[in-house]
Amino acid sequence: MITIALPKGRIAEETLMIFRKIFKTPFLFEDRKLVMSEGGFKFLMVRNQDIPVYIVNGAADIGVVGLDVLEEHKPDVLRLLDLKIGKCRVCVGIKESDNLDYSAPELRVATKMPNISRNYFSTKATALKIIKLYGSIELAPIVGLSNAIVDVVETGTTMKQNGLKVAETIMHSSAHLIANKNSFIIKKDEILSLYDKIKKEIED
Ligand code: PRP
Repeated sequence: MITIALPKGRIAEETLMIFRKIFKTPFLFEDRKLVMSEGGFKFLMVRNQDIPVYIVNGAADIGVVGLDVLEEHKPDVLRLLDLKIGKCRVCVGIKESDNLDYSAPELRVATKMPNISRNYFSTKATALKIIKLYGSIELAPIVGLSNAIVDVVETGTTMKQNGLKVAETIMHSSAHLIANKNSFIIKKDEILSLYDKIKKEIED
């Protein structure tokens, strides 16, 4: 049995679609349930940011997670495959009327991705203050909590609706298949067999 951690929401649904096509099995979560066992797999419904925690600790053998989360937390996992779903960008956002001013005495950046942000701005000649938030990042510049945000942009609607614009793109992201290092040794054949099927399915 392989345990697979999926991030709640659209990526989970798109990943399950891939499994449905491969195994011709419904793979449906019952309402509000967080675990589903079917077809020799156990699926876990996990918060996006928590996926690496389940994999690193061996509570799941493999998982699906955004490259942005991998780059932010640098978990000790194997990166197996880019699933090419859940495509988005990590961007610097500012108010529509503003310019990103690196000559200002201090840049205050609100984000749930402090490591990516710090790393990015370290190459710019500016004093940086990171304001760590857990959600609704787009609110920060509106109320003067920050001058800028670093956040995930998919369609761009959230920024636009809140009077913000993309100033710079830091990285592109998509959902990746990752594995626990021990699981990959102990369950190598099972995981590789699944890897081959998924790879074939997404390339078709
Ligand atoms: C992300 C991100 C933005 C929004 C961007 O949040 O933080 O708010 O999506 O999408 P858009 O460009 O299509 O408008 P998400 O809904 O993933 O919630 P989270 O804060 O829990 O990660």
